[in-house]
Amino acid sequence: MISKKMEEALNAQINAELFSAYVYLSMSAYFNSSDFKGFANWMNAQAQEEVAHAMKIYNFLLDRSGQVVLAAIDGPPTEWESPLAVFEAAYKHEQHVTSLIHNLVALAIDENDYATKNLMDWFVDEQVEEEASASEIVEQLRLIGKDGPGLLMMDRELAQRKFDPAAGE
Ligand code: FEO
Repeated sequence: MISKKMEEALNAQINAELFSAYVYLSMSAYFNSSDFKGFANWMNAQAQEEVAHAMKIYNFLLDRSGQVVLAAIDGPPTEWESPLAVFEAAYKHEQHVTSLIHNLVALAIDENDYATKNLMDWFVDEQVEEEASASEIVEQLRLIGKDGPGLLMMDRELAQRKFDPAAGE
């Protein structure tokens, strides 16, 4: 069993992960319509990874005989000024998600809920990677600036990313 308080907090995190998927799908659509297909691909893979994160918590709640309650998902932003602005927003978003995960760790410790604490340890590690990959792209885009060939090369590089279905494991 899981406490009501922890159950509500995990349901809120399912919503936050699905909102993240919305954010990245919206960014993917923005890149697609700006003809940056590689950036769009990267964002699409990221969105799928967010759904895998949501499902990891969803399945955990069911395993713990908790109730999954899916709430409405807010609409994501739809416009950005540049590829750099998109990735800066993605990086900022991941920093926010990290703070949500850290709050869940604190709650699990407070509740002596070791199973949830274990699950959250996985997410703590995952957030280190999430922030690192977004921040790395931000740094590269800052170096590239308005250089067209540089942007094109980067777009080609990010076209290589493939969603790994094992990402949530
Ligand atoms: Fe599920 Fe990007 O954090």
